[in-house]
Amino acid sequence: MKLNRSDIDLSKLMQTLRKDARKKEEFFRYIGDGPILEIGCGSGQVLKRMSHAFPDAALYGIDADSRMIAAAKRKNIPNCVFYNSLAQSPVELASKVNNVIFPASLHEIVSFSNNADVYQTFRNVHSYLTKGGVAIIWEGMRSDYGNITISDSPALGGLVKFARQFEYKKYFFEKTGKTKYSVSFDLLAEYVTKKDRLDIQMEYKETHFPLNHAEYEDLLKSTGFEISVFNKKPLHQNELEWIHRNLRLEEDISNIPVYVLIVAKKP
Ligand SMILES: C[S@@+](CC[C@H](N)C(=O)[O-])C[C@H]1O[C@@H](n2cnc3c(N)ncnc32)[C@H](O)[C@@H]1O
Repeated sequence: MKLNRSDIDLSKLMQTLRKDARKKEEFFRYIGDGPILEIGCGSGQVLKRMSHAFPDAALYGIDADSRMIAAAKRKNIPNCVFYNSLAQSPVELASKVNNVIFPASLHEIVSFSNNADVYQTFRNVHSYLTKGGVAIIWEGMRSDYGNITISDSPALGGLVKFARQFEYKKYFFEKTGKTKYSVSFDLLAEYVTKKDRLDIQMEYKETHFPLNHAEYEDLLKSTGFEISVFNKKPLHQNELEWIHRNLRLEEDISNIPVYVLIVAKKP
């Protein structure tokens, strides 16, 4: 199975995954004993780190892209079995698991599948887990904050261009004065997290902030989970600093939550 991206996009994506892998260790403290399954495991960067952190655990990785699975297999990660499958298609795992992790993979599943498939993914995850097992989501969260005002500033042209080309969703964007724009905050969040890799076509087709708070809750509760941790964070410091250096905003956006770490238990 090959997902709809070019080989150039794929090698750039693998580079980014390599760079970001360490950040994802943030959620390792929520992983309990027993087997661990990663949904959307990509080229295996996180599984490789987990094989060091949890040397006795059986590891499983599911990914829809055969080229990603091939790259992951080349890493020869001990105790690790891979499945080339869509997350929404049930897989016969070698055993039940106690932990299922989604490190920055749910935004792609939401972007490239329909709503029913996203719910089916979580019903599958529920069936893979033992009683008391956990699903851990490390992802972006759409804020639905509304619009902010940006006046003429160095990066405005780039943001306008991005807004016109962003295909995933038409966010609000309007010129309201000679040098003023009213812009959806969520559009700004997409831009600041993508601005350095806009040569990757996929960035215009996917969202980095797939669900809002209520949608995460509905997804997890309606597929049989109890939420035990729901940590929210604003944009990262380097992202906020870039915005403050390059865009003149009227509002203070430094505390708007846009990232989540969710732990959901199978009761
Ligand atoms: C941004 S990458 C993250 C990879 C990995 N979790 C990491 O952190 O290094 C997202 C991965 O999700 C996979 N993916 C996207 N949609 C999927 C689906 N419906 N089912 C399974 N995998 C999917 C992609 O092939 C890609 O490898």
